[in-house]
Parts: sequence; C-alpha cells; structure tokens
Amino acid sequence: MAQKPWEHAKASGSEADPLAARFVASLDVDKRLYRHDIRGSMAHARMLERVGLITTDDLAQIERGLGEIEAEIEAQGDDWPGWKVELEDVHMCVEAALIEKVGDAGRKLHTGRSRNDQVATDLVMWVREAADELHDLLTGLCDAFVVMADRNADVVMPAYTHLQRAQPIVAGSECLAWCCMFDSDRWYLHQCVLHMFASPLGSGAIAGSSLPLDPMLTAQALGFEQPPWNSIAFTATRDSALDFVYGCTTIAMHLSRWAEQWIIYASEEFGFIRLDDAFTTGSSMMPQKRNPDMLELLRGKAATPYGSLVALLTMCKGLTVGYNRDLQEDKRHVFAAYDCVKDCLQMATRIVSTSDFRPERIGERLHRGHLDATSLAEYLVTRGVPFRTSHQIVGRLVRKADELERFELRKLTLDEMRAECDVIDKDVYDWLGPENVVQRYRTIGNAGATGFAEQVKQWKQRLTAD
Ligand code: ARG
Repeated sequence: MAQKPWEHAKASGSEADPLAARFVASLDVDKRLYRHDIRGSMAHARMLERVGLITTDDLAQIERGLGEIEAEIEAQGDDWPGWKVELEDVHMCVEAALIEKVGDAGRKLHTGRSRNDQVATDLVMWVREAADELHDLLTGLCDAFVVMADRNADVVMPAYTHLQRAQPIVAGSECLAWCCMFDSDRWYLHQCVLHMFASPLGSGAIAGSSLPLDPMLTAQALGFEQPPWNSIAFTATRDSALDFVYGCTTIAMHLSRWAEQWIIYASEEFGFIRLDDAFTTGSSMMPQKRNPDMLELLRGKAATPYGSLVALLTMCKGLTVGYNRDLQEDKRHVFAAYDCVKDCLQMATRIVSTSDFRPERIGERLHRGHLDATSLAEYLVTRGVPFRTSHQIVGRLVRKADELERFELRKLTLDEMRAECDVIDKDVYDWLGPENVVQRYRTIGNAGATGFAEQVKQWKQRLTAD
C-alpha cells in the first residue's frame, strides 16, 4: 500500500496499521457525496482560473477529468475502481483519479483549499437538496390528506381528548389536522434551506489563504448568496446539518402520532379506518389477521432520526473551535435520518391515498359519549346562563340521561331538561345530536362544517401554489 499523498511529513502513514487505515476512512459513508464534491471542485477550479492561479488549459483538463470521473461513477457505482479505502474519503478518491487522468493540472485543483472547507461545502450542498426533496414529499403527503379530507366532508365522527370522546367533528377535519402538522415540517425545511445561504468554500483549513482566491465566485457558482465571513467558524460548524436532522425528527414524530392514531382506528374495537390489504400483513399462525405493520413501522422508525439527532448533537458538543476529526462522523447520522424519513414519507403517502373512513362503523356509536354536552352548555350561555353554571347544569343532565338509560341528551324531554334549568326552550334540540353540533361551530379553524369547508378550500389553493 502506498503512503497517502498528503502524509509526506511523517516517516510512515496511517496505512502502516490496517486497523488505523480502516478506522480513519469514511469512504463507505461519504461516497454518496461524489456529485456534490465534483460540483464543488468544478466551481473551485473555475475560480482558480479566473484569478489566474491556474491556466485555461489546466481548467479544461480538470473539467474534462472531473466530467469523466462523474460519468464513470454514475455508470459503475460501488464498482468504480477509483474507490480506494486507503485514500480515506470521497474527496481524496476523486482527486487521486483526476491526477491519474490529467497529471499536473489535477495536482493544482486543491490550491487554496482544504478538505475541511471542501467537506463542509459538500455537506451543505447535499443537505439543501435533501431538504428540498423531503419538502416535496411532504407536499405529496399533505395533498393525499386533503384528497382524503375532501372525500369525507359529510362524515361526522367523534373527536377525542385523552382518547375519550370529546366533541363531534367532520371527519375530514382530522385529515386536515395531519396536513397542518406536515405542512409545518414543510415550512421548517424551507426555512432551513433559506438559512443555508453562505458557502464555506474559501475558508481553507481554518485561517483562509494568502492566495488571491475569490470565494464569492465559488459561492455564486454553487448557488449560495455569500462567501464564508469567518474562516474559523465555517470550517467546523455542522449547524445546517443539525437543523436538517431536527426537521427529520419532527417529521418522524408527526408520522408516529398519525400512525398510532390509525393503528387504533384500524382495530376491530374502533373500526374507523380501513387500510388497503397492501399495507397490512397476515400472521403465520392466525389466519384471520390483518395487522397494520406498515403503520407500526412508521411509528417505530422514529427511533432512527431521534437517534441521529442525539448522536450529531453529542458529536458536536465539546469540540474546540476549528476542525476536529470527530466531525467526520456527522454524515452517517445525517444520511440515516434522511434515508429513514424519505422512506417513511413515501410509505405514508401511499397509505393515506388508499385508505378511507368507514362511516357505517363510525355511525354505529356516534350518539354515545355525549359529544353534544359542550354544545348544550353553550346553548345555555346564549340564554344568559353564566358558563360555569351551565357546565354544572349540563353535568347533571348527562347524569340524568345515563341514569334513565337513554344515554343521549336529546332523548330527554323538554320538561326533564327544564326541571334542571327553566330557560331551556324547544329550540334546544337544534343544539343536540352530533349532526346538529357540527353545523353550529363558527370560530375560525373549527372542526365542523364551516371550518372544514373553509380550510379545505385554502389547502387546495396553498398546495397547488407551491
Ligand atoms: N473525510 C473527512 C471528513 O469528513 C475530511 C476532512 C479531513 N480533514 C482533516 N483535516 N483531516 O471530515
């Protein structure tokens, strides 16, 4: 094994010990950065030519060589012969292959650059793209929820707090609730991308360079607005990666909440949702089973991005101000979070697109649990009863309905109600029964008929606008 081309100051290189050689390498993980690395190198080379540090001929050779390397990697993937683990990482493999192809012009590519600003730049470029991709997948998922919502504008169902029956809602509103959560993830990722407006390239190893580099040129070529304004900070921060992985964790958290909800809804006990057979599995022993394994996995996979976030935060903690090799461990966590969440978002979108509510099952017990009790209390408020008092009165009426084994407030007679509160009139029945109640909500964003109609309209506009 040859000595590493950048370890000339030492009597022997880290390849002298096979474990050390493997230990220090990150190639297995970072080879997927090759496109970004080549793009960054192209921009760097063009800048070097513009400021006169390499000739036009050098640049032409570098561009040709890097172009060929990219095509080779595209075609050969992991089998590309340039992947040499003794070269440690994607950056050194690409550069070594370039030098093999074009000789001295290739040896000039690294002028004024360090792997420290190189890898920082590659990673930010990668994260920007990944965030855009997840953003688009989130849009697809939101779309699927809106379509499902639209199909269920007329289904009335119970809403739960503490998983106990609370108030009646339009079923589609619950789809829009998930849409809201995934939209806020979308918004967050968009903000992350906007925040990544500075390029680390030009920072060098830590202190910049005495050569007449023009980092603004490379920044613009790579789609950044600004060059690094502090060479020390820019070589050794992974804040953009952290922001991104945090975004992955909130997506995963929202997915796991939704998955849990639908696991419950798909149970025989609830029966609110029917899942497509493609997204359930059978049992090796019990022939009747339709287990919601995909949803369970969506719930369980949240562990991966959560772990990535904690790992990345822990890796960054306590690092002295410049580059430390600890930072090489960043990419495995960023990629793991992304891979996991990308898969999950695609899976979730398919499940939502193929599932539906089961109005007949929801309807079977819709009138149990006094979903209209709050509505009755609000009716009393409109009749001048202080809310705390009306709350007490309705509490007594609920008890009365249950004691009489009628279980529904609307099954009490007017006289029975008036015995508790004489301002009650026969129009009270318009405020009772889940179907009436969902027509009565009037606050902005409400989960009844008016709120649903307004929200669904806005979501359709909003999602097609992006
Ligand atoms: N593969 C390394 C990483 O990902 C490249 C940086 C090495 N820099 C150094 N100064 N040894 O961080």
